[in-house]
Amino acid sequence: MTTPLPWSTDKILIAPSVLSADFTNLERDITAVERAGADLIHIDVMDGHFVPNITIGQPVVRAIRRVSACPLDVHLMIEDADRYVDDFVDAGADMLSVHVEVTPHLQRTIAHIKSLGVRAGAVLNPSTSVSSLLEIASDLDFVLIMSVNPGFSGQVFIRQSLDKVRRVRDVLTQAGSSALIEIDGGIDTTNARAAVDAGATILVAGKAIFGAPDAESAIQAIRATTNATAQQ
Ligand code: DX5
Ligand code: ZN
Repeated sequence: MTTPLPWSTDKILIAPSVLSADFTNLERDITAVERAGADLIHIDVMDGHFVPNITIGQPVVRAIRRVSACPLDVHLMIEDADRYVDDFVDAGADMLSVHVEVTPHLQRTIAHIKSLGVRAGAVLNPSTSVSSLLEIASDLDFVLIMSVNPGFSGQVFIRQSLDKVRRVRDVLTQAGSSALIEIDGGIDTTNARAAVDAGATILVAGKAIFGAPDAESAIQAIRATTNATAQQ
């Protein structure tokens, strides 16, 4: 049975990205992070067109759905997302995000995802302006801010992303939107707290969790930094 999707700005959600997991032991790795308190499982879908990598498709999402109790956060890095939205929802996605750079009819796509009973998110690449959210902010369930250029795990966190999180938070506030802010790319114990202080409440982490000697300790370490008293 799937855990209900926790949806509140009061809770910090940690979303391990299975892109960095051991694909020959996916069930083992997912079970480990769930035991350590993962809130979501982040799944990176790449098509080799929008981003220079090919990763996971619907059959793997479906398989993960069978072995995971966590809500599945599916990040589509693909051209023509409209063609595949229904398939990924059918495979078990609980959250589905599409990139604004390749989704020309974003309002329609977001409305369609929501009509399927799934949380809908818009993703911004590092060079994509926050202003691209102005007309869609009140429709979104969440905004995913890329803090690396999408395509690969294990890249270096782009520091300016923190300011971008703050500016997205302002845009959402001004629009009266309660959308959550997710940050993805290079998140680890050195920057998770700053991302939360800036306004992110969903933290994706790949290498910092699955690349660590012990994934369970790694997720707990990230959680501990976000629980620590704010630094002045
Ligand atoms: C990058 C993906 C990320 C990535 C995160 O294109 O969207 O989800 O797997 O991995 P780390 O945390 O290693 O940057
Ligand atoms: Zn991702």
